[in-house]
Amino acid sequence: MDAFFCRYAKRPLAIDRHGCGFNDSLWLWLIARWLLPEAVVESGTFMGYSAWLFRQACPAARIVTHDVELPLAGRLRARAVDYRLQDWSTASLEGIDPKRALCFFDDHISHFLRLHQAHQRGFHLVLLDDNFPARQLHATGAPPLPSLAMLEDEESLTRTLEWQRKGKHYTYHGAQENAREHALVKQIVKACYRFPDLAAITRLPPGSNLTLVRLSV
Ligand SMILES: C[S@@+](CC[C@H](N)C(=O)[O-])C[C@H]1O[C@@H](n2cnc3c(N)ncnc32)[C@H](O)[C@@H]1O
Repeated sequence: MDAFFCRYAKRPLAIDRHGCGFNDSLWLWLIARWLLPEAVVESGTFMGYSAWLFRQACPAARIVTHDVELPLAGRLRARAVDYRLQDWSTASLEGIDPKRALCFFDDHISHFLRLHQAHQRGFHLVLLDDNFPARQLHATGAPPLPSLAMLEDEESLTRTLEWQRKGKHYTYHGAQENAREHALVKQIVKACYRFPDLAAITRLPPGSNLTLVRLSV
């Protein structure tokens, strides 16, 4: 905890509206320190805050981060972080042992797609951000659809969902194909753990339902 507070106080992006706030930063730090992966493969770099935080938490790990666009305000270039401008599914991960690596998906892309890809590439541990159930989709802009929480709740999968956020109206048309995704996720997800929200303790904005997933081998 002391090491976290020391690094967090020196974070290079103090205002990062779409990056993680204090509560999720603390979890990312603790998860990274607990697992000590040999590599972190991230999808969703944005301004580079979470990649920087992983770099601080795991000084010996290889950190590779992917995004498909550059933010207008520019991107942090931290030492020894491999920044890539491409979707992770087409990226070469040569030299990375997926069994000893951690995948972090914070790109608002379907959790089904990301879990399926990670499983096919041989990863065992995946950390998902924005794992909101159907009734909390308004908590983030353009949430990953379907989220893992939705895939675990058969009722929400085939329904049409509607919600509003910041004056914008969103609709998600659940489809029968989600039932197939639900079945596959059941096969490949061996265990998952959603980290508790720290907002009631820290009185800082709530986190994004970070969820650690262990995939079948
Ligand atoms: C919430 S931000 C990531 C925040 C970052 N992880 C942090 O905490 O500092 C989501 C990012 O996902 C990116 N994104 C969207 N589609 C993507 C894709 N197919 N592959 C990788 N990144 C993508 C967006 O461009 C955006 O920068």
